[in-house]
Amino acid sequence: MPAALSSTPTAADTIGDRASYRALTRPRGAHHIEVLDQRALPHAIVKTKIASADAAAIAIRKMLVRGAPLIGAVGAYGLALALDRDAGDHELARAHTALDATRPTAVNLRWALDRVRDAVAALPIAERAEAAWREADAICAEDVAINHAIGVHGLAMLRELAGRRPGPLKVMTHCNAGALATCGWGTATAPLFLAHAEGMPLHVWVSETRPRLQGASLTAWELHERGIPHTVFVDSASGLLMRRGDVDVVLVGADRVARNGDVCNKIGTYDKALAAKDNGVPFYVAVPSPTIDWALGSGEGIPIESRSADEVLTVLGRDHYGHATSVALAPEGTRAVNFAFDVTPARLVDGLLTERGLARDAQALSAMFPERADGRG
Ligand code: MRU
Repeated sequence: MPAALSSTPTAADTIGDRASYRALTRPRGAHHIEVLDQRALPHAIVKTKIASADAAAIAIRKMLVRGAPLIGAVGAYGLALALDRDAGDHELARAHTALDATRPTAVNLRWALDRVRDAVAALPIAERAEAAWREADAICAEDVAINHAIGVHGLAMLRELAGRRPGPLKVMTHCNAGALATCGWGTATAPLFLAHAEGMPLHVWVSETRPRLQGASLTAWELHERGIPHTVFVDSASGLLMRRGDVDVVLVGADRVARNGDVCNKIGTYDKALAAKDNGVPFYVAVPSPTIDWALGSGEGIPIESRSADEVLTVLGRDHYGHATSVALAPEGTRAVNFAFDVTPARLVDGLLTERGLARDAQALSAMFPERADGRG
């Protein structure tokens, strides 16, 4: 088991997330942050200090940090770091644009950057940087509380499902919507962590999530850290597992949810939703409110990040000596497409688990967030 990380207690600790790791910490009062370099997991714990807006942008773009809520939080701190050097209007706009351009799909990044900008824009220049740090801290603390609340609502849903049949509840998840993708608890994992903590027998099916393997490398690691039984499977086995009756519920995260309830998440989510519908398996999505894009009527308008073909054509691992090694999978010159996300239509989704409860459809979602759904948020 990897050694526990030493970190300053964060809001995560205050509501009981006792994970031995933190994706993001700000040492008390420091004007830098520390992140776990997620590219090294599960083989090594590597912490990286981020002390400039450029470094924050690189960490997001190169996926040292990833996951919708986490890139929002790192973006927010990136803007605070930019203002430490120059808090003028020009730098505020420049840094906002540069950070926003790092990854296009998850709306949390834009949401967090707008929130920091709006919190400081009307202040005297001398007060802007401190206010930005405070706002970024608040975004992190709120993220932890939101995820914990999702966990509480999700736990009720899992209890209900578990009560219907004997044996462990079999939950399928995709990619990593865990504590590593957030400031604490994770979204899709929060109900699982709470269920395990109260003694509910669980078995989690973890889809490997090609090409970057965030399921196999990150979700499996988080479940292992907490002692939750799990099995990794190849992405293309989800239909078979559901058809065999081996899955009671699918629970995934989201990168952006449109007003009509369409869900954009890691590539392969749509396939799982189709298989779930065909096999009568309930399909739920954990959705913190900053992931909802109220300005978008449907998922059609969501920009889908297209990444390097290298991620598909090579695989990164460790050799017997522990050295990181990249191995080619296809003949030289082979072309590959690498869409990072897909959109699952709302009709395939049985419920959106938010911090305010379980919304069964878009209407229920709007009713849950009247202050944002009416366009004021
Ligand atoms: O490309 P990534 O690793 O940033 O993608 C992450 C996902 O798709 C997660 O499922 C999503 O962001 C939800 S994280 C709580």
